[in-house]
Amino acid sequence: MIEIKDLCFSYQNRKKAKERKEIVHNLNLTVKDNEFLCLLGPSGCGKSTILKIIAGFEKAEKGVILDNGEEINDVSYERAMVFQEDAVFPWMRVYQNVEYGLKARGIEKAERDEIANHFISLVGLSGVENQYPKELSGGMKKRVDLARVLSNNPRIMLMDEPFGALDAMTKEKLQEQLLQIWEKTKKTIIFVTHDIEEAIFLGDRVAIMQPISFGGELHVYDIPFERPRSLAIKENPQFQKMRRQMIDELKEYESF
Ligand SMILES: Nc1ncnc2c1ncn2[C@@H]1O[C@H](COP(=O)(O)OP(=O)(O)OP(=O)(O)O)[C@@H](O)[C@H]1O
Ligand SMILES: [Mg+2]
Repeated sequence: MIEIKDLCFSYQNRKKAKERKEIVHNLNLTVKDNEFLCLLGPSGCGKSTILKIIAGFEKAEKGVILDNGEEINDVSYERAMVFQEDAVFPWMRVYQNVEYGLKARGIEKAERDEIANHFISLVGLSGVENQYPKELSGGMKKRVDLARVLSNNPRIMLMDEPFGALDAMTKEKLQEQLLQIWEKTKKTIIFVTHDIEEAIFLGDRVAIMQPISFGGELHVYDIPFERPRSLAIKENPQFQKMRRQMIDELKEYESF
């Protein structure tokens, strides 16, 4: 369980060293184990910043973030970040990319092979293990990235617009695949997106983050659709109604 308690964070103003720009103000949020939480909000409101603090890349200025009751104050392979840009090494083949983290952790060859092959197959990349990233499509590269992250067996995945750069069809395929993987592996996922439909389709809850000029609070929607979900729920009138509500809420914050 992740508990964010009265979190405050600001960046130093680059031009005026003494000034700080407040990004997060008294934020509270609890994410349960195996929950899929989506985070929406206008550009620049601080979504990526929150993920970076949870990952341990940035430190809370006030308040705390607890991971299973322990304060987060460093990075850990148990909390993995997935970015919009692929974090794959272009000079390594698919297989080497996936086993990279395992090797870095000193895991022996036989076990590495087993784990890497398992996740390559789980994301549907069997057969292209020996290709280089440049020989793959955008969606396939994203899958390499997912296999790479999953092979380290993180408990928590912090995903920052991971499908933002993909075309609509590829995106939907990966959304379905991510849900299947999540259902099998029981990860806790915090998923930042600009795509409202993506958020409702994937999430147990969707949190909309207000810009700080509107109070910086989170407005949390419970998503009632049963699991496993199929893409057909996007046509459901209740889905469309929630989508409309979220669009209207986000429009309010557009001009912050
Ligand atoms: N390293 C930094 N130094 C100073 N200011 C920063 C830094 N990183 C981000 N900011 C500022 O903090 C604010 C929040 O940035 P953040 O990247 O968290 O927003 P976001 O909600 O993820 O936006 P987007 O939806 O565009 O990705 C922005 O105003 C940004 O300019
Ligand atoms: Mg961002």
